[in-house]
Amino acid sequence: MLKLTSSPLRVFTSSGTPSRSGSAALITKRKFRNYATQAKIPVNIVEVGPRDGLQNEKGVIPVDVKVELIEKLALAGCNNIEAGSFVSPKWVPQMAGTGEIISRMHRLPDVHYAVLVPNQKGLDGLLSVLNTYNSSPDSESVPPPSDEISIFTAATDAFTRANLNTSIAESLVKMAPMARAALDKGLRVRGYVSVAIACPYTGQVDYKKVREVSKELLEMGCYEVSLGDTVGRGTPSQVAEMLEEVKKDVPVERLAGHFHDTFGTAVANVFTALEHGVRTIDSSVGGLGGCPYSPGATGNVATEDILYALQGSKYGITGTEYGKGTIDLDQITEIGWWISEKLGRESVSRAGRALRAKKIRDAEMAKDGEVRAKL
Ligand code: HMG
Ligand code: MG
Repeated sequence: MLKLTSSPLRVFTSSGTPSRSGSAALITKRKFRNYATQAKIPVNIVEVGPRDGLQNEKGVIPVDVKVELIEKLALAGCNNIEAGSFVSPKWVPQMAGTGEIISRMHRLPDVHYAVLVPNQKGLDGLLSVLNTYNSSPDSESVPPPSDEISIFTAATDAFTRANLNTSIAESLVKMAPMARAALDKGLRVRGYVSVAIACPYTGQVDYKKVREVSKELLEMGCYEVSLGDTVGRGTPSQVAEMLEEVKKDVPVERLAGHFHDTFGTAVANVFTALEHGVRTIDSSVGGLGGCPYSPGATGNVATEDILYALQGSKYGITGTEYGKGTIDLDQITEIGWWISEKLGRESVSRAGRALRAKKIRDAEMAKDGEVRAKL
């Protein structure tokens, strides 16, 4: 079986399989640029649907459904899945039970399962799950319930206060020892800077603050900082301007883009981020989600929409062997519909809706063909 990694240095072909020789793909007889025959620039997806996607839901979502969602995503090829968060259930009730979810879900090798933690109490919650796992007979053969934490702050005090009940400066002071403790336990640490473009409470954000906070998160040991357009109001030109500012102090390969799609600009913002050198994008199956502390903001850019939009481009999505080295668009579309229906609605992914409609049309036409053939 193919053994693939999500190494950013890996060269991928259009079929999603690693190229045997990176240079082979550069040989083309055609004069025009044909990405189908060229090596792809690898792009990582962090699937945040089970966390960012579900945290804002009003109704109760059974643990079984959350477990199944994560398992389905891993089987579709997702190699980075944010599985939940250890936050106060008084603040975000929908994330209660994350410990049980990550303990119960069937874990696949080569998949990073991350959880969001806001404070030491959240980290302690995760570590107690990991301690149970470490003392179990499974620990030799089964991947751990989680190998990564996400810590989060923001570019404005007003948002940080609403989301974490503290200021930016205080949040950073609290996070530094948490990051250290997680690293000491062998966990990866990822950081978020929310409201990187606009804040729901104070409006336009000063991109210098985004740069400063990103730098601090990296200095405390985050391997990557994800820049959140939490409100989903950003335009491509704003994303470009913000990234140019942050890149003054932070290497672009350590940045990720996290775009909510409130104004329908998220796919354009993803392309802008990619063109500015960002190689990791957060997205949410079925376009689920929203932040409870960003009123009116809708879900993340849909994973289906990115997978669809990047087809035939110079970018190739990395994934595990379960998705044949990439993330399978058909499976993600089905998962987007499956989870949306569990939540009592339709998928909001544009590509997901169009692909489902096409599938239904194709099935009807095939049935018509069969009937005609019998006549
Ligand atoms: P606080 O009220 O200041 O904390 O909240 P506290 O220490 O006073 O504790 C209040 C109660 O919560 C206590 O319980 C604690 O034990 C409990 P009580 O004594 O009243 O029974 N508690 C906890 N329980 C479980 N796990 C914990 C925990 N901590 C305290 N970890 C706090 C401070 C940080 C807890 C709170 O503000 C919080 O949970 N905030 C998280 C909010 C959140 O999850 N927001 C959404 C995620 S961020 C996001 O979506 C943005 C992102 O997607 C990027 C983007 O889009 O920009 C990442
Ligand atoms: Mg978010």
